[in-house]
Amino acid sequence: MFTLKKLVLILLFLALLSEFTSSKRIDFNPKFTQKNPIVIIPGLSGSKLKYKLTDFKSKHVFCKDNADWERLWLKFDLFVPPFVDCLKEVMTLNYDPKTKKSLPPTGVEIKTYTGIDGIIDLDPSLPSWHPYFKDMIESFRSIGYSDDQNLFGLPYDFRQDVYNLEDYLKLVQTTVENSYILNGNKSIILIVHSYGSLLSGYLTNKLGKPWVNKYIQETIYIAPASGGVLETVKSISTGNNFGDFLISDKSMIGMDRTFPSVYYTLPNNETWNDYIVLSSNKNYKANKKDYLDLFKELALEQSSFDIFEQTSSYKYFHQPYSKSIVMYGYGQDTPVQLVYEGKIGSDKFKYVNSDGDSTVPKDVVLQLCKNWGVECKGYSGTTHVGIVKEKTVIQDLIKNVLENQT
Ligand SMILES: *[C@@H]1O[C@H](CO)[C@@H](O)[C@H](O)[C@H]1NC(C)=O
Ligand SMILES: *[C@@H]1O[C@H](CO)[C@@H](O)[C@H](O)[C@H]1NC(C)=O
Repeated sequence: MFTLKKLVLILLFLALLSEFTSSKRIDFNPKFTQKNPIVIIPGLSGSKLKYKLTDFKSKHVFCKDNADWERLWLKFDLFVPPFVDCLKEVMTLNYDPKTKKSLPPTGVEIKTYTGIDGIIDLDPSLPSWHPYFKDMIESFRSIGYSDDQNLFGLPYDFRQDVYNLEDYLKLVQTTVENSYILNGNKSIILIVHSYGSLLSGYLTNKLGKPWVNKYIQETIYIAPASGGVLETVKSISTGNNFGDFLISDKSMIGMDRTFPSVYYTLPNNETWNDYIVLSSNKNYKANKKDYLDLFKELALEQSSFDIFEQTSSYKYFHQPYSKSIVMYGYGQDTPVQLVYEGKIGSDKFKYVNSDGDSTVPKDVVLQLCKNWGVECKGYSGTTHVGIVKEKTVIQDLIKNVLENQT
């Protein structure tokens, strides 16, 4: 959910921003030795991915057929036409109705980078483009946290949903359990951003309250996407260019529609009450029946219906059993309705905006907090992705982490 325009701006103002977000200004007297471990789960498109191609039969002459674990996400070069077609071709998934898994094309293997490295400097050749968790990680290090000892970053293949991320969820569980023991039975501070809230919500609901009570000291939700976001409706109906003005929304549509994560993060009826799609024929709300009608109208393939059915079966596993806090941004135009002037799915649409962080509407996040019964804290002028490197947010996090040492 990164917008390239904003990221280019970030690039231009790098010097200024790094001055503002410098973690060295946070004073801390390291009195404690054994700490409550911190485990970070990033958001959608917030994990570094690499790929291997073995005699891949690309449809394009300018794309590679062989590659040996090269960086795929993020890589600025792959966002420039015509190379964006190479990105699209290797990232598109194929649904297998037998196993209900979404798999890469023949000859393509994709995996994440490991640990903290996988969630900072997503394009290391352009560090200012997307530093992501970098400032926050450096702040935790500055108060004595150490990578892979009591500070963990857990990147994942963000195209997938929990059904396809079984191994990843097992890794989250064992990281929590092992770091608990290795740090003298200290329970974990779980930090989740955006889509990470759906993954952690599913996992903790599956493992149950006793497990959470033992292992999780606190869950810190940063801009949680558990209520869903309108951008994924657009990904399915019109396509999503990830904010890259060099490419059209439509050009990415075939890829987006194969990502289970897109269906998993559709707005849900617990937090979205009003219409989400308006057209001359019919208006659609965020419920199962209307989504099925919308998919029919868009003449989606059977795999879309199957993936939607699959994600619907665990869509509502969100209740955090641990002590929690939600940190969210507001003060940005945030889409709440997609209005088609002509045919649904055309690129003739406009957004109706409301207040929010540019991706998650404020009303949706406030409704989540109410449903979960947790404290919510807003940060004015912060965007959905920018919030993880916002200085005031990081300062509050450090304070919170220090106060929650057991
Ligand atoms: C951690 O818990 C285990 C099992 O309850 C116990 O055997 C062990 O002594 C504890 N370790 C510490 C450092 O408290
Ligand atoms: C939302 O939809 C689900 C599944 O269709 C249904 O069980 C639930 O009652 C609905 N919740 C609300 C608040 O409408």
